[in-house]
Amino acid sequence: MALPERSPECDNYLAGFGNHFLSEAEKGAVPHGQNSPQKAPLGLYAEQLSGTSFVMARHENLRSWLYRIRPSVLHSPFVRISNQSIRSKPFNEVEATPNQLRWDAFALPEMYEKVDFIDGIKTIAGNGDSASLRGSAVHLYCANSDMSDRFFYNSDGDFLVVPEKGKLRFATEFGIIDLAPGEIAVLPRGIKFQVTLPDKSARGYILENYGPSFKLPGLGPIGSNGLANSRDFLAPKAAYEEKLSGEQSFKLTNKFNGNLWQAEISHSPLDVVGWHGTYYPYKYDLSLFNVINTVSFDHPDPSIFTVLTSPSELPGTANVDFVIFPPRWMVAEHTFRPPYYHRNIMSEYMGLIFGVYDAKEEGFVPGGGSLHNTFSAHGPDQATFNKASQDDLKPNYQGNTLAFMFESSLVYAPTKLAMDTSHLQKNYQNCWQGLNSNFSLDKS
Ligand code: FE2
Repeated sequence: MALPERSPECDNYLAGFGNHFLSEAEKGAVPHGQNSPQKAPLGLYAEQLSGTSFVMARHENLRSWLYRIRPSVLHSPFVRISNQSIRSKPFNEVEATPNQLRWDAFALPEMYEKVDFIDGIKTIAGNGDSASLRGSAVHLYCANSDMSDRFFYNSDGDFLVVPEKGKLRFATEFGIIDLAPGEIAVLPRGIKFQVTLPDKSARGYILENYGPSFKLPGLGPIGSNGLANSRDFLAPKAAYEEKLSGEQSFKLTNKFNGNLWQAEISHSPLDVVGWHGTYYPYKYDLSLFNVINTVSFDHPDPSIFTVLTSPSELPGTANVDFVIFPPRWMVAEHTFRPPYYHRNIMSEYMGLIFGVYDAKEEGFVPGGGSLHNTFSAHGPDQATFNKASQDDLKPNYQGNTLAFMFESSLVYAPTKLAMDTSHLQKNYQNCWQGLNSNFSLDKS
């Protein structure tokens, strides 16, 4: 297992989870000692962006002050546009199902179509209601075109973006985030951004979180270090563009109360010259996740793989968790090493970033996904069970794997698109049908 190397790219970011940062693209852009002086520095406008209510407890209060060339209010009226393949509440296009579901990867758009990051979003499943700040949606994105004259912000939820194929560049109000497969980014609600594709095309997953902002999970007896460490989360440094649109106005697209709206805007809204605060986008390299697991026998529950959690009002029960199954040593003795068979009150959407998942050696592919809703039985397929029951239990490094799970306390209802697509595997349940009884009273 290679020692993680510090990328020089880290110098482009501010390190730490949940910190109060201050960043200036031009010296003196952020006023000293107060937020809203009579005249903000450099002729900028001061604007506050609040991600939590004003009176949220101080340690959970998320807000930033932005010092920008023009205030955000400068745009034409929003008008409704097509939601394309994005779906939101009520998630009732088709009934939620107790059946185990699995999908192949969706194809990238054909060369002749131009599909940007927003138009390329396809909703697979969802639960809850953005208006009541509870629930989440599972989206895929497949894109082959830059957002060149278009900007986006989401009023409904935070985007947690999991690239599987192709790099993404997020130009945000707070600065630039470059993202590659193996990393994740969180774009909290309300923050404007534009996505370009350095590799010309891109595919991946989005968890849209309607609930409370993502936090690092509590570590309990693990102690003060481990899992995703605070120091490895990276926020962008301030960067701005002073750009007017040509004859054709720029577009500002807003996902609002489940629908897409769009306004004309005569300038780039990415014109924040300096900012300070606790509310900003960030990214995290999943290879830096410090995996905690057994060094004796059996499995701890998969909660030990939680990267980020959005809590619910019920203590200990997440609105939605983001969980990964990264490269790691497997050393458990006299143990069935793949994930155990289980039924679970939580509902689980799984995806694969690269390699092979240890419960399913076939059929679960990078870019594909599976959905096991509350108390739907699942576990290793027949081939995996047979192999793992006979394997020589030497220490084994599982290097070629990076799977993840969006795990919610609410049932995920699939969308019509997800149930009608030819990518839905009609024979998924067959992978377990050969699991015959091995029961025998013969102890010889
Ligand atoms: Fe599971």
